[in-house]
Amino acid sequence: MNLREKCRLFEFTERGDERGQLVVVEALKDIPFEIKRIFYIYGANEDTVRGRHANKKSDFVFINLAGSCKIRLYDGTEEYVVTLDRPNVGLYVPKLVWKDMYDFSSDAVLLTLSDEYYDPTEYIRGGE
Ligand code: TYD
Repeated sequence: MNLREKCRLFEFTERGDERGQLVVVEALKDIPFEIKRIFYIYGANEDTVRGRHANKKSDFVFINLAGSCKIRLYDGTEEYVVTLDRPNVGLYVPKLVWKDMYDFSSDAVLLTLSDEYYDPTEYIRGGE
């Protein structure tokens, strides 16, 4: 499976009306795992580079809730850059894929869902 097939983009339904939009993400329905952890990044800017690691155990879905950012994916063979700039799009990134998050707009809020609790020993740093 190539990197674009492994790192799928999900388009979540926007349940909008005159009051605005509402997006629902349900575990094992809209994304392929049970959620154990969420975390989010904000206050980054165009000079920020985050990530620079792969994970041995964790799978992720990245949802850029406001503003925009880019995620560079690398699996040791291929590279794939995704721009996230819509709050109803999720990028699924399975384990053993290197991730750099960069080119954040100053208003970017990047939400991450994961199927594992935080464990610093499962992070692989370097090796890109
Ligand atoms: P870091 O791994 O540098 O973030 P990123 O992958 O976005 O570059 O994490 C920043 C700090 O937050 C670091 O001290 C570890 C801590 N942290 C947790 O405690 N739990 C978590 O789930 C995450 C992702 C980070």
